[in-house]
Amino acid sequence: MILGLGLIGGSIARGLKAVDSSQRVLAADLDGKSLQAAIEDKSIDAAGDLESLCPHAEIIVIALPPLAINAVLPIIYAHMDAAAVVTDVASVKSHILKTLDTLDEGFQRRFVPGHPIAGSEQSGYQASRAELFAQRNVILTPLPTTSPEAVAIVNCMWRQLGANVLGMSICRHDEVLAATSHLPHLLAFAIVDVLVKQELSADIFRYAAGGFADFSRLASSDATMWSDIFIANADASTRVLDAYIENLVELKKAIGDRDQAYLMATFLRAKSTRDKFIEQHFTPSGDNVMTDSRVTLQVQPGGKIAGALRVPGDKSISHRAIILGSIAEGVTEVSGFLEGEDALNTVAAFREMGVTIIGPEAGKLTLYGVGKAGLQVPRKPLYMGNSGTAMRLLAGLLAAQSFDSELNGDESLNGRPMNRVVKPLRQMGASIATTANGTPPLRITGTELRGIEYNMPLASAQVKSCLLLAGLFAQGVTDVREPASCRDHTERMLAGFGYPLQRDIAAGTVRLEGGHILKATAIDVPADISSAAFFIVAAAISPGSSLLLEHVGVNPTRTGVINILQTMGADIELHNEREIGGEPVADLRVRYRQLRGIEIPTQQIPLAIDEFPVLFIAAACAEGETLLRGAAELRVKESDRIDAMAAGLTSLGITTESYDDGIRIQGGNLGGGRVDSHGDHRIAMAFTIAALRATDAITITDCANVATSFPGFVEMANRVGIKVSAHVD
Ligand code: S3P
Repeated sequence: MILGLGLIGGSIARGLKAVDSSQRVLAADLDGKSLQAAIEDKSIDAAGDLESLCPHAEIIVIALPPLAINAVLPIIYAHMDAAAVVTDVASVKSHILKTLDTLDEGFQRRFVPGHPIAGSEQSGYQASRAELFAQRNVILTPLPTTSPEAVAIVNCMWRQLGANVLGMSICRHDEVLAATSHLPHLLAFAIVDVLVKQELSADIFRYAAGGFADFSRLASSDATMWSDIFIANADASTRVLDAYIENLVELKKAIGDRDQAYLMATFLRAKSTRDKFIEQHFTPSGDNVMTDSRVTLQVQPGGKIAGALRVPGDKSISHRAIILGSIAEGVTEVSGFLEGEDALNTVAAFREMGVTIIGPEAGKLTLYGVGKAGLQVPRKPLYMGNSGTAMRLLAGLLAAQSFDSELNGDESLNGRPMNRVVKPLRQMGASIATTANGTPPLRITGTELRGIEYNMPLASAQVKSCLLLAGLFAQGVTDVREPASCRDHTERMLAGFGYPLQRDIAAGTVRLEGGHILKATAIDVPADISSAAFFIVAAAISPGSSLLLEHVGVNPTRTGVINILQTMGADIELHNEREIGGEPVADLRVRYRQLRGIEIPTQQIPLAIDEFPVLFIAAACAEGETLLRGAAELRVKESDRIDAMAAGLTSLGITTESYDDGIRIQGGNLGGGRVDSHGDHRIAMAFTIAALRATDAITITDCANVATSFPGFVEMANRVGIKVSAHVD
């Protein structure tokens, strides 16, 4: 049932009928003409008043101006079926909370606040269109106590209308909307109002052209609705208005002072921001999180490391939290989540499959689990960006769904080998097509899988996790054996979600049976040891350094970097060791001590697989020679890390010898120069650390992908004593 048959309500009615005319749509509105027109259009089946329609509705959509919602909620509550779900479409949310508090908990659980970012300056039923929401964003703002079933029902309604469903907290929503929507509307009303009051207003309007028409379009919006919006969102609106007034005062002063430099700087900043916004939001691939490939890092030589840091959340754990939280029953709350591009692409993929996800906001992510059978068919290929982990893990999950899907990525990911997961998945019955080279895109035909016993030819946590995820859905038992220990976050997290599995750590096996459910849980993501590794090495190689790294994940399947550095003589202490949510965590104290070259033990390779770029920098600063063999895997990471590191080290004056499966590095004096990161985040960050011991500045090109795993790296590095700046050309 739709309450209020204006532009939004009318478009919902038309859209639902256009998708499936057998759906019964009821509507109430004070304007009898709109109801009559809608019946004639067949966009609704019946009209009536709120009280009489309410008891018959499964979903009640309140499409009224914001202040009216508070008035109707108690009436709806009094008349609705207890199992119905209620939602709204208002562009302000926080003012509803007080009324919601007066209603019982059962109702609160079934009320899902929502806001379609669609509409136009036109209003009323006559302006409504069935396709108004196609490919537009709808923001749901459920509370942690809102029922995941109710959230899924509302999500599904918006999907039917073609919308992309996002999630935000109420507070963040109202702040963001005050800036992006409410402020521009206010300015449009204000500019027309100012001009109409001018003496020359007749002439002004006579000669006004496209610029005026563009800018003032929003002033044709509905006055009742917009006055409601500003009253309902007064606090956030006045805050952003203050900032705007301050900006105008500065601009006025610059004009008065004839300060062209100030005006130019402001206008150029605004132009480039808007151009980027248009490119990202109005080009075909624009909704994928994309990096600007022309970022260069410039690092000054020397320095020492001091202070305390908490680096961003663990990437592997963040990916797994999204995946398992999405298919669990109930609401999973994640804290410490990595807001890097890889993880954000995974969030977008699950949103595309109908999961409502709030955030991330300050490291918090809330997932309204849809259960193992609840994922919806993605309407477009799922873009995994730069992330091999996301692609390989999702391949396992998607192979077992009842729908088809396609996974693709950026240039680097589209060149990486996928047969390592595709082959065992095919043994489980999966139907997956790759390119002739076994690279993405992966075209997956969802089908029923059966469990297998699989001896992994290489110690890969991605392969193991892929098969375990497929195994959750497969018939019978999936039994995976690893040739050497590799990260076990999937096993630990599955246990945290209450999924039964058997592990024999000594034998390197893990088995699980399909058919059980996952129960939502809370996840505290520790700081990523792979990101901490850059600063561990930074402090270890710079004379006079002492650094505290807080809340670092020290899962024994990840601590190869500590073990290897300690064998090289590094001074690293673990303090305050504890276990949080099934994952070991500690604070690390690292002090400078001269390192010596070693032969890296083979069993440490999977435990330090991502840390070799920065370990090679440590080796370059060590006395003597370091040898790594048995690490061919490094050639198929985000770049060929053996070649990329050897080339960079050589250009800085270090002697290296490369092998198919490793490298020999002779410790020596690092000079300065230009290094190509090959678009690999870890190569870029490793050479940033190298500058601490270099005699001259180091320039590192193609560094945009640092944002895939370590947002804020440059700021953090500066905070502890590394003189690095980022430049976009
Ligand atoms: C990861 C596993 C590792 C690692 C990657 C993350 C994971 O890859 O390199 O960055 O989250 O499972 P492999 O398991 O393929 O070695």
